Amino acid sequence: METQIQKKRIFSGIQPTGKLTLGNYIGALRNFNILQDEYDCVYSIVDLHALTVRQNPTELRQACLRTMATFLASGLDPEKNIIYFQSQVAAHAELAWVLNCFTYMGEMSRMTQFKDKSAKHADNINCGLFTYPVLMAADILLYQADLVPIGADQKQHLEICRDIAGRFNAIYGDVFTIPDGYFPKVGARVMSLQEPTRKMSKSDPEETYIAMLDEPDVIRRKIRRAVTDSENSVAYDPDNRPGVANLMSILSALSGQTLDQIAAEYGDLGYGKFKDAVADCIIATLEPIQKRYAEISADKAYLQQVMDSGRERASAIAHRTMLKVRKKLGIAPWKL
Ligand code: TRP
Repeated sequence: METQIQKKRIFSGIQPTGKLTLGNYIGALRNFNILQDEYDCVYSIVDLHALTVRQNPTELRQACLRTMATFLASGLDPEKNIIYFQSQVAAHAELAWVLNCFTYMGEMSRMTQFKDKSAKHADNINCGLFTYPVLMAADILLYQADLVPIGADQKQHLEICRDIAGRFNAIYGDVFTIPDGYFPKVGARVMSLQEPTRKMSKSDPEETYIAMLDEPDVIRRKIRRAVTDSENSVAYDPDNRPGVANLMSILSALSGQTLDQIAAEYGDLGYGKFKDAVADCIIATLEPIQKRYAEISADKAYLQQVMDSGRERASAIAHRTMLKVRKKLGIAPWKL
């Protein structure tokens, strides 16, 4: 008889910004096909989390679809992975409510992201923003995820998720899998093109990042204008020369060349030639993805089918967890 080895499950939540950057690509999206063989991956486009700030409905809808299309264009196989919209699986909101009752005000008020965001949006400090980490915990726990890929900014949120799960389990027995962070073995951190000591982010000004859907001439221009230094030699020294180091690690990540090989090849050729090579490599990587993106976005029937089947498969897993939770808590449905 065939023995089925249970793969570990990865759960990942993605904000539907609709604008993914080269940093997202190098850090996450290009690894889809490696991950899908080793893990059982669930990707949720977290449109409920997006509602903590005021959204324009048409723009939100487009951003959600763009995010899904970009994932698919990057090589995510919707048969081998689950990809779906959070709001389409009602169990997220249900479990979030339950977990709210197991989370303390004090814990939430200590969250640094809440403090930062409420300072930024002082006119709209809503309860959703306050309990954002609880909804995130519900996302993860519903799928009994073993691993959650997260950046440094989400560490505190994963920690609170583990605390809430542990607290619930301590009362009701083993209901939830306690998740760990997943930190990919490889994966350069891509920095801002203008302030290379900061992470590349699509919330910074346009010239600081490369969007995955940027046109080739835009990419070339942004790389040409990327901050370097006055040394004019290509060598890896991230502490003292972060701009050059960032371009080198981008090139290394995309071309497979090592940093040493890059330094040897471009060392004295000058920044102009080096930057052209970096831009060429980014363009060559993104062009086929952009082409697939255009095809996928135009294929409404395909997108609809991916959406529907993702919702069905995600719902089935979430439903099982919810039944368990309901039973433990003593809330319906009961078997009379
Ligand atoms: N808060 C995460 C972010 O801003 C997005 C997110 C929502 C998430 N739910 C999640 C990430 C569950 C991992 C797991 O990036």
